[in-house]
Amino acid sequence: MVSVTSCVLIALFAFGHLVRSYYTEEYRPQFHFTPEKNWMNDPNGLVYHNGKYHLFYQYNPNGTTWGYMSWGHAVSTDLVHWKHLPIALECEVDSNGNVLEMFFSGSAVVDANNTSGFAIPLGKDRRGKVIYSQPMVAIYTSNYPTAHTQSNGVVIQEGQQSQSIAFSNDDGLTWTQYEGNPVIESPPSEYADQYNQFRDPFVFWHSPSSKWIMVASLAMKQILLIYSSDNLKNWALESQFGPYNARFGQWECPSLFPLYVDGNTAAEKWVILMGINPGGVITGSGTQTIIGSFNGTTFVADPTDVTDPTQIPAGATVFQDFESTSSTFEELGWTATGDFAGLGPQQASTVDVWNIMGYLGKGVLTTYLFGDVAKGTITSPKFTVTKKYISFLIAGGYYPYNPATAGTGDDNQVSIGLVVGGQVVHSQTGTDTESLVWRSWNVAGWVGKEAYLVVTDVNTGPFAHLHVDEIVFSDTPKDEANWNDLGPDYYAAATYNGLPTSERIVIGWMNNWAYAQNIPTTPWRSAMSVPRKLALKTINNKVRVVQQPVSSLSSLYTSTLYSRKFTALQSGYSKIYVPSPYNARMKVTLRFTRGTGTKFGVVLRSNATNSQETVIGYDFLGQNVFVDRFKAGDNSFVDWEPNPYPGYFIATMPTKSTDAITLTILLDWSSVEVFDGLGQIAITSQIFPLDDSAQVKLFSEGGTTRSVSVSINGMKSAW
Ligand SMILES: *[C@@H]1O[C@H](CO)[C@@H](O)[C@H](O)[C@H]1NC(C)=O
Ligand SMILES: *[C@@H]1O[C@H](CO)[C@@H](O)[C@H](O)[C@H]1NC(C)=O
Ligand SMILES: *[C@@H]1O[C@H](CO)[C@@H](O)[C@H](O)[C@H]1NC(C)=O
Ligand SMILES: *[C@@H]1O[C@H](CO)[C@@H](O)[C@H](O)[C@H]1NC(C)=O
Ligand SMILES: *[C@@H]1O[C@H](CO)[C@@H](O)[C@H](O)[C@H]1NC(C)=O
Repeated sequence: MVSVTSCVLIALFAFGHLVRSYYTEEYRPQFHFTPEKNWMNDPNGLVYHNGKYHLFYQYNPNGTTWGYMSWGHAVSTDLVHWKHLPIALECEVDSNGNVLEMFFSGSAVVDANNTSGFAIPLGKDRRGKVIYSQPMVAIYTSNYPTAHTQSNGVVIQEGQQSQSIAFSNDDGLTWTQYEGNPVIESPPSEYADQYNQFRDPFVFWHSPSSKWIMVASLAMKQILLIYSSDNLKNWALESQFGPYNARFGQWECPSLFPLYVDGNTAAEKWVILMGINPGGVITGSGTQTIIGSFNGTTFVADPTDVTDPTQIPAGATVFQDFESTSSTFEELGWTATGDFAGLGPQQASTVDVWNIMGYLGKGVLTTYLFGDVAKGTITSPKFTVTKKYISFLIAGGYYPYNPATAGTGDDNQVSIGLVVGGQVVHSQTGTDTESLVWRSWNVAGWVGKEAYLVVTDVNTGPFAHLHVDEIVFSDTPKDEANWNDLGPDYYAAATYNGLPTSERIVIGWMNNWAYAQNIPTTPWRSAMSVPRKLALKTINNKVRVVQQPVSSLSSLYTSTLYSRKFTALQSGYSKIYVPSPYNARMKVTLRFTRGTGTKFGVVLRSNATNSQETVIGYDFLGQNVFVDRFKAGDNSFVDWEPNPYPGYFIATMPTKSTDAITLTILLDWSSVEVFDGLGQIAITSQIFPLDDSAQVKLFSEGGTTRSVSVSINGMKSAW
C-alpha cells in the first residue's frame, strides 16, 4: 500500500517537472534576475572583482514573503546571465527559534591593500613571491530582533540596527563575520532614539583622501550620515546630510558616487541615490537622486538640485492658495457638489489636528470633511491656460482617475483633474501620505485654451481623501524631487563598486512595498531591474542623471523581428505580427515626430478586444512619456484598499514639435521598463497579463504621427 502511494506521488512530481521546465513558470522573468525560489528584496553588496559582477540580495531562505533576512548571492560575467551561489550571510536563529540577527542591506568592497588586515597568503608564484588574497568585505546592517548579549560581550537591545562587517577570502563564496562586530553600534548620541532605524551602509574607497567612506541612513529622520575609516573597522562620523526633497517617508539604501558631466573626465560631480518608502512618486516605494559635490567629508547639494517646498517657482502666478478668509468654495468662485456643497477650505486650526503637513499659509482644500465618508466634487472657475506648467501641493490616498470607470458606479477616484474641452487631460491622486508634496503638469499643449480643475472624491474607503494647496501657473515645473524612475516598481537601487567612474552600473529592486508581498508569482517573489548604466548629461541647461540598460543586454536580442517606417501613421490601431514566444518578451524601439495626433505609442500584451493591454507612449500635448497599466492583467492580489496596483504613470519630457522622439521599451513576462533616447526618463512597472494576451499594436490618437519607425527584437531567455 505505502509503496504504491509513494510511486504515484513520485510520478506526479516527475510529471510536474516535465511540464514546468526551469524558469518558465507563469510570469517568470526571462531576462531579469530572480532567485530560483523564495522572497527577494534589495540588491546588496554589488561589487565587480576579478571579471565577475557579484550580486548579493536581501533573501528569505524560508518563504515567499519577507523574513529571516539573509544575503543571497549570484555572479555574472556579463550582467545578463547569472549563476546562483550559496547563501552568503545566513540569518541567525537561536535554539528556541528566536531570530538573533538578520543581515539587512549593505555594500561590498575589495580591500586590495589589506587595510582591514583580513588578507591571507594564498601561496607562492613561480618566482617564489607570496601571493595574497584581496579580501572582499561586506558592510551591512545587523538587525537584532531579540535582546541578547553577544559572545564578544556586546549587549544588544531588542530591535537594534548596527553596522557590521564580514570578509571573504574566496571571492565571496564563504564569509567570516568580524569578531569585533558591530563596527558602528549606534547612531551619534543626538539620535540615540534612532537606534532601531539606522541602516543600509554604502561604502566605497575614496582615493583623494585615501579613506573608506560610508553613507548610512537614519531612515525616519531622512538624514544620511557620512563616516570615514582607514581600516573598515573604526569609523569616524564626518558629516550629515538631509532632509531634502522627497522626505515624507523613510530614507533607505543611500549611495554616493561620482559621475562625469557629459563624459568630460575633468567635470566630475557626485550623486546621492536613495530610496524613499512610503512617499515614492506613485505611492509606496520610490527612488530619488541629488547631484552635488563631495570633498571627502561632506556632500553639498547643488542648489539647482534641491527644492525649497515653501517657495513657489520664480515668476509663478498663484491661481488659488486657499488663503482667502472666504468661508465657502462658492465665495472663492469655485463650486462644490455632494457633501462638499456649501463648505470651503479648512484652516490650520482644524487641519493640524488631522496631522496634515506641508501646506502653505493657513488654508488648504481638503475632502476629509467628515472623515473619509465625504463624497462629491470641488470645481475651480474656468481659466485660460497661459503658462507651461500647473503645479500644486497634494496629499491623500492613492485612488487614481481611471477613464474607463470615471462617472460610472465603479468610479473610486480621489483625484484632482485638469479638464480641457470636456476631457480630463491630466490627473493626480494622492500618494498615500498626509504630507503635501509638489507635483506639476506640463500644459504647454493647451496654452490659449479654456480649462478648469476638478477635485473628485467619490470614494468612502480608507484614506479616501485629498488635500490640495498652492495651485500656481508658471513656465518652470515645481516637483518634490528628482525622481530617478517615474514608475511604481524601482526601489533600493544600488550601484557597483570596483568599476571606473564612466561605468557606474545600477540595479534596482523591481517591486514596491505597497504590494510587494502579494504579487502573484510562485515559487519566487520579486525581480531585479535590468542593470542600467548611469551618467550625467546636460539637458535644457540642467545637469541630469541619465540611465540606459547596459549594452551587454544586446547579447539576448534576436535578429530584428519587425522593422517598418511610416511617413505618417494614421489615427487608429495597426496590429504588428511578432512571432511567439517573442510577443511576450521583446525590445521595442520607437522613433517618431509629432503630426496632427495627440498621442502615439504601442499596445503590448493585449488581447483581441483590448480588454487586457499595457499601453506605452508619448503624449504630445501633456509632453510626457506614459505607461498605462490599468488593464495590464491580474491585480486581484491586492486584496486591500486602497488598491495601489493600477495606474497611469507619466514622466514629463518636453519636446518641440519637430523633435524626433525615441523610446526603448523592454518587455518581459511580468514587467515593462521604458527609456527615452537620452535616458532622461525611466518608467518601470510590473504587469501580470494572461498568457493569451500577446498582441502588439501601434496606435496614433487624435490624428497622424509623422516619421514613425518601429523596430522589434525578441529577447532570448537568460536562463
Ligand atoms: C529559517 O531560516 C533560518 C536561516 O536560514 C534557519 O536557521 C531556520 O531554521 C529556518 N526556519 C524555518 C522555520 O524554516
Ligand atoms: C591601494 O594603495 C594604492 C597605493 O597606495 C592606492 O593608490 C590605492 O588607492 C589603494 N587602493 C585601495 C582600494 O585601498
Ligand atoms: C594583512 O594585515 C594583517 C594585519 O596587519 C597582517 O597580519 C596580515 O599578514 C596581512 N596580510 C597580508 C597578506 O599582508
Ligand atoms: C569639506 O567641505 C566642508 C563643508 O564645505 C568643510 O567644512 C570641510 O572642511 C571640507 N573638508 C575638506 C577635507 O576639504
Ligand atoms: C481579454 O482579456 C480579458 C481579461 O481582461 C478576458 O476576460 C477576455 O476573455 C479576453 N478577451 C479576448 C477576446 O481575448
